[in-house]
Amino acid sequence: MKNFVVIGSPIKHSLSPYLHNYVYNSANINAKYAKKEVSINELSNVIELIRSENLDGINITIPYKEVILKYLDEVSPQANLIGSVNVVYMKNNLLFGNNTDWYGFKETIIKNNISINDKEIIVLGAGGTSKAILFALKILGAKRINLFNRTFTKAKNMQDEIITAYEYTDSEQIIKSNSIIINTTSVGMLKNDIPINSSLISKNQILIDVIYSPLLTPFLKAGIEKGAQIINGLDMFIFQALESIDLWFGETYSNKVNFKQIKTNLERKLC
Ligand code: ATR
Repeated sequence: MKNFVVIGSPIKHSLSPYLHNYVYNSANINAKYAKKEVSINELSNVIELIRSENLDGINITIPYKEVILKYLDEVSPQANLIGSVNVVYMKNNLLFGNNTDWYGFKETIIKNNISINDKEIIVLGAGGTSKAILFALKILGAKRINLFNRTFTKAKNMQDEIITAYEYTDSEQIIKSNSIIINTTSVGMLKNDIPINSSLISKNQILIDVIYSPLLTPFLKAGIEKGAQIINGLDMFIFQALESIDLWFGETYSNKVNFKQIKTNLERKLC
């Protein structure tokens, strides 16, 4: 039997074990998946469990998607361009890092019929998840993205011909009444916080949150109150997980499972 684990901190909220074990059961995959709270000092030891074949693969979540890079032998071209890794496994005897977050976000945009070129795009946060989403937005053809981050220098370092960095104090001037606003931060996951002032949220916007637990963050609740279109993090969560499974097993299990049923089960679990 193969063994997989998701590592991060905090990890309690993660439904990755539920999702993966559900897919393994329904696709007859002989494997099991657990979650593990890991401190920064334990990170290298956990990664080494793959090299020593005590683990077959790891998913990485907040806050280690970028720091993990230095422990790996090789990364995929996409993960290298993005600068963040959320899947680790052995490939050709090398400890290999890949990124499926960007794919999960791209598929979410396609599945929900979002046209990203009609509206101004706002991205909140400049961590590992944000980098993957910015990459996906560029692949989808975004021409201009406004990036906000609490630590402004991090956003500023990510500026290029498409991305412009802003301080949150600029949000009133920059966030438009018809923007697409994407929250990539953890704000709203553990506490009842909102990443931008709710007065900036209005009905012609599309609000996308990467958070799936809770299903409705204060950010998305404010969107519902104003009549905006909202998308929670569940689609992205499922797409990135299925892509991880395909990478680990070298088969397209993602085509063999029922996406809708997986989503309904997760929604029930989160209600
Ligand atoms: P991930 O890998 O999931 O992206 P991360 O790299 O730790 O996690 O990034 C977390 C993001 O959430 C960062 O943009 C962080 O802002 P800083 O760069 O200033 O740390 C943002 N974030 C976390 N808590 C926040 C808070 N309370 N207010 C605003 N932004 C926050």
